[in-house]
Amino acid sequence: MTRLQVLGVSGSPVKDGNTDVLVKAILETAGVESEFVKLSDLRVGPCNACMRCTFMNLCVVEDDFVQLAEKVMEADALVLGSPVYYGTVSAYTKAFMERLFSKRHVHLRLKGKLAATVAVGEVGEVETAAWMATALDRQGFDLVGSISAKGTPCCFACGAGETCAYANWNATAPEVTGEDYGYAEAYRGYLEILPDNVPLVHGSAKILRCRSVKDEPAVIVETERIGRLLGDRLGGDTG
Ligand SMILES: Cc1cc2nc3c(=O)[nH]c(=O)nc-3n(C[C@H](O)[C@H](O)[C@H](O)COP(=O)(O)O)c2cc1C
Repeated sequence: MTRLQVLGVSGSPVKDGNTDVLVKAILETAGVESEFVKLSDLRVGPCNACMRCTFMNLCVVEDDFVQLAEKVMEADALVLGSPVYYGTVSAYTKAFMERLFSKRHVHLRLKGKLAATVAVGEVGEVETAAWMATALDRQGFDLVGSISAKGTPCCFACGAGETCAYANWNATAPEVTGEDYGYAEAYRGYLEILPDNVPLVHGSAKILRCRSVKDEPAVIVETERIGRLLGDRLGGDTG
C-alpha cells in the first residue's frame, strides 16, 4: 500500500461546495498519494485544555480526532480548507486546529510538514487565510501557499435572500458598518441590490446567478499553481 503524502481536510459542512472543490483541486494537481476528509463527516470536538497531551503529544479526548491525527502524522503535507463563518474559520476547522495543539508541546511534532490553505467567503476570506497561516505556522507547518476566494453566498441558496433585510450583503453594508467591504462590487453580475432595499429594515434584491469558484479561471489557475508547488516539494508527478 502506498503511503499517504497529502491529507486534505475540509472544514465546510457543504458537500462539494467551493471549499471542497479547491481543496480537492490542490490534491489532484499535487499528483501524489492523497486523501480527502470532511470534518463534518467526523466527530472532532474542541480542545478541553486538560493538558494531558503535554508529554506524549497524544490527545486523550475520545472522538474521531484520534484516527485523524494518525493521518496528519503520516502525511507529509496538510491542505486545510475552511469557509468563512462569522469572520473566521468554521467551528469544524477551529476545533480541528485546537486539537492539533496536542502535537505541539515540547516536541513540535508537526515541524517540517508542508501546508496549503483554502479560505472561501463573501468578505472575510483574506483575513481568514491569514488566521489559518498563523495558526499552522505556530504548529510548525511550512506554508507553501494560501488561496482565498469569493464563494457562493449562503443567502443565495436559503430561499429568503431576495427579500431579507438581514442578508449578508445587508448586514455588511457600508451604511450599517461604516466600512465598505466591497460586497456589491464583488458580487456584481451575481446580485442586484434594488433601489428600495434598506439594510436591516427592508430587503429587496435580485439574485441573478450562483457564484462558483469553478467558473473563476484566476482562482483555478492559482489553486493549481499551489498544488503543483506542493507536488514539486514532495517529489510528485505534477506534469
Ligand atoms: C453560519 C455562517 C456564517 C457566515 N459568516 C460569514 C462571514 O462572517 N463572512 C463571510 O465572508 N461569509 C460568511 N458566510 C458565508 C460563507 O463564507 C460562504 O457561503 C462560503 O461560500 C461558504 O463556502 P462553501 O461554498 O465552501 O460552502 C457565512 C455562512 C454561514 C453558513
